[in-house]
Amino acid sequence: MKLLIKGAHLIDGHHAFNKDIYMENGKIEEIGEDLDCDCQWIDAKGLVLLPAFVDIHAHFRDPGQLDKEDLVTGGMAALKGGYTFVNLMGNTDPVCSNMETINYVRDKARDLDLVEVHQCASITENFDGGSLEHLDRLDKDVRMITDDGKGVASTLSMYRAMEKARDRGIIVMAHAEEMDLTQIDYRLSENLETVRDIYLAKHTGARLHLTHVSTREAIEEIRRGKADGADNITCDVTPHHISMWDKEYRVNPPIRGKEDVEALIEGIKDGTVDAIGTDHAPHTPEDKEKGSPGISGIETSFQICHTHLVKAGHIQMGQLVRLMSENPARILGLNKGRLEKGYDGDVVLVDLDKESQVHPDRFVSKGKNTPFSGLKVQGEIILTIRGGSIKYMSKECGEERLYDNR
Ligand code: DOR
Repeated sequence: MKLLIKGAHLIDGHHAFNKDIYMENGKIEEIGEDLDCDCQWIDAKGLVLLPAFVDIHAHFRDPGQLDKEDLVTGGMAALKGGYTFVNLMGNTDPVCSNMETINYVRDKARDLDLVEVHQCASITENFDGGSLEHLDRLDKDVRMITDDGKGVASTLSMYRAMEKARDRGIIVMAHAEEMDLTQIDYRLSENLETVRDIYLAKHTGARLHLTHVSTREAIEEIRRGKADGADNITCDVTPHHISMWDKEYRVNPPIRGKEDVEALIEGIKDGTVDAIGTDHAPHTPEDKEKGSPGISGIETSFQICHTHLVKAGHIQMGQLVRLMSENPARILGLNKGRLEKGYDGDVVLVDLDKESQVHPDRFVSKGKNTPFSGLKVQGEIILTIRGGSIKYMSKECGEERLYDNR
């Protein structure tokens, strides 16, 4: 499989230049001027080419909640959003606490050949809050554990889980929510578990990834932890927590205040925040009506971040690429996220000037639950390429750019 993309402006976290890019056998083979080959090629003049995005946090609801999403619709939604890799949460039905369930997800995703997936295992068995023996039975290639959707209430269980994770060389992803306190103060609830988990990670030496960080205090604690030399701690923020404040929309953690949004953006600018994760959480209209928290966000993530971070003048495109591609890939140990020879041929072509409006009825995800409906955004995904083959093409301007030299 060979593919040449000509005429795009290439941007990653380290370069920005007008060059052609040639991919062969799934990898980036050459980046240079006036490249030629007897193969399929794309005329990408006027478009920007980025390393495809890596979502460190998504829910595809498969197995068990297929009325909300499944690996087919989730995979197609991810590709439409410019993602070629998703790290899936384990709050499925059954919960991903054993290799049988994890292998079901892996095998189905491999057969579908849409996006690549890593399926997280739960920290506590079936989210029971305490049992950890199942961690000893996981295959070595399970790289991350999380009870996302719930906090781990028992400090001792979290401590023991971190010891096991450290010994196995895997990452603990923390959904920092002190569940008993949520009813009193959701802010305190996030802050307390954030501090606790940073202390536990420092003490045990385990790798800790704090996900969907949403408060000013939590970001400050993470900044302090990192400044103290804790290089085993990373974190992500979501597109919705960096672009909205004081809005009533049911999601966990909740939409916060303006000063929290400002603090998260400050954290992005100074490098405290490592990654942007979508927390793509599709629900049926009925479940949403009943109060299920979450946002179907994988199709709008780039547009929201481009509009609210880059267009708003907070960061440059290269830094957005680090947050959406390079850093999540590095955390997950993937050969993705950079435009250099030898990296996976996972790239995305975007039209940065294209303005559009968010229309949830056009989502390919089953989840139409979004607070961004009707929002004007800038930037559109035109083509998503994984391993050198085209996996998504926008209806509007995809096909007319495709040529075959063979
Ligand atoms: O809003 C959320 N929805 N936050 C979570 O942590 C879980 C997720 C879900 O699974 O619906």
